[in-house]
Amino acid sequence: MNPTLNSIFEQFDFWKKASMPAKLTDNTSTYVVVGCGTSYNLALSVAAALNAQGFIAIGVPAGEWIIRPNAYLSENVKTVKVIALSRSGETTETVQAAKASQARGQEVIGITCEPGSSLSAASDIPVEFASHPQEGIVMTCSASLMLLAGYALAGLSINDELANRAEKLVAALDAIDIADYSQRSHFVFLGGGTNYGVALEGALKLQEMAICYTQAFHPGEYRHGPVSLVDERTAIVMLYHSETAADEAILVKELQAKGAWVLGLGGAGDVQLNVDSEGDLSGAEILPALQLLGERYALSHGIDTTAPRHLTKVVMLED
Ligand code: AGP
Repeated sequence: MNPTLNSIFEQFDFWKKASMPAKLTDNTSTYVVVGCGTSYNLALSVAAALNAQGFIAIGVPAGEWIIRPNAYLSENVKTVKVIALSRSGETTETVQAAKASQARGQEVIGITCEPGSSLSAASDIPVEFASHPQEGIVMTCSASLMLLAGYALAGLSINDELANRAEKLVAALDAIDIADYSQRSHFVFLGGGTNYGVALEGALKLQEMAICYTQAFHPGEYRHGPVSLVDERTAIVMLYHSETAADEAILVKELQAKGAWVLGLGGAGDVQLNVDSEGDLSGAEILPALQLLGERYALSHGIDTTAPRHLTKVVMLED
């Protein structure tokens, strides 16, 4: 197995060993969840989970939170806390966002997979994990761990059973005949609520790994224009949410009629894989399978995902 596959298949022991943070107790402050790239995608899902659990939260790209915070949160909101996600803990925008937030007197919880990193130093409450040692530029195990940590802060139950379910789903994805989707060239990931950030991350993963044209939308949004691109070259990955699965299944039928091949994660599709987690936890169960989807597609096109085009492990900007 190559290092990327190892980091995907072997991540579940890291899930089980990780010490997850306790549920937040402050439900009056507004939590701004920041990150860049993958970590921003996760931030959106974490913010959605926090809101669903009775907290107040928004997800904001770290760079935007530095340069125009008031575009995202009125300065009339007085009690703000920040949750910053960064695998490396060294991404310039995320570290600067943490420092700027602290300078404004805002408490920072920093979630990272690099203990002792600059993000940890700029955090009032560092949450640190060890990720798989073979993980490369493309984020796999680390992304999962940071999503789980955010969900734990929201109060979702992160346990070994979730890891076992996610591992089972990865095995099920691995068993799909690659010929079902390897000739598709346009991939669309659909997910709502907490699953939207995970859908964005599935799209980013495949894009980074296989230099493939991908998109992500909330399911209901997809009919409002983007659907015009659907044809026989399209693969749809539907991240069903148990509360909205019936509506999502109707959309899937419409897209199949337009030529799309559909992978249904937790609901109907040309290929349907069961997702055992209900509600907002389903995205955490699904994420590793999306990582494997990207890797399998890249392998089928002869692409080495350990050296993704134009990407580096950390984006550090000049001062
Ligand atoms: C690797 O290319 C990632 N997909 C990338 O988007 C990364 O998430 C981003 O650069 C932020 O990195 P960080 O998590 O280390 O801060």
